[in-house]
Amino acid sequence: MKQRSIKQLVLALMSMLALTVILLPTPSGAVSAGDEAAKLFQAKCSKCHGVDGSGTAMGRKLKAPDLRSDAVQKLSDDELFQAIAKGKKAFHKFGTKLSEEHIRQLVRHVRQLAKKK
Ligand code: HEC
Repeated sequence: MKQRSIKQLVLALMSMLALTVILLPTPSGAVSAGDEAAKLFQAKCSKCHGVDGSGTAMGRKLKAPDLRSDAVQKLSDDELFQAIAKGKKAFHKFGTKLSEEHIRQLVRHVRQLAKKK
């Protein structure tokens, strides 16, 4: 009888521990800025620009440039920032939805894309 209650206690403790591990959010430091930018790019930009920046069929139809091309890479960080925030023909309406920090991360990501080419 006594032994059974100890067993039950151990089981209860173990399941509580398992729950804590499952429910605890991953520490914010675990995701690097690069990963976050890549995820953001995938979520918001890859529809037109493709995950690698080369452009999807839809992107090409809209005349989205290859983000790895010189035409885009020769732009300054500031120009890229403006391009992402506003775009030339209102294809980008993220200005209000993306934080400044996120746009900066995306500028860095666009630079990374060119390096991977
Ligand atoms: C609905 C399709 C679409 C989505 C989504 C999209 N773009 Fe674009 N992008 C375009 C088109 C079209 C152009 C070319 C015309 C323009 O600059 O507005 C462009 C141009 C660009 C340029 C080059 C600007 C220049 O001056 O040459 C950059 C950099 C860029 N996009 C980055 C991004 C980033 C980063 C995201 C995600 C936050 C994104 N785009 C999402 C369609 C899109």
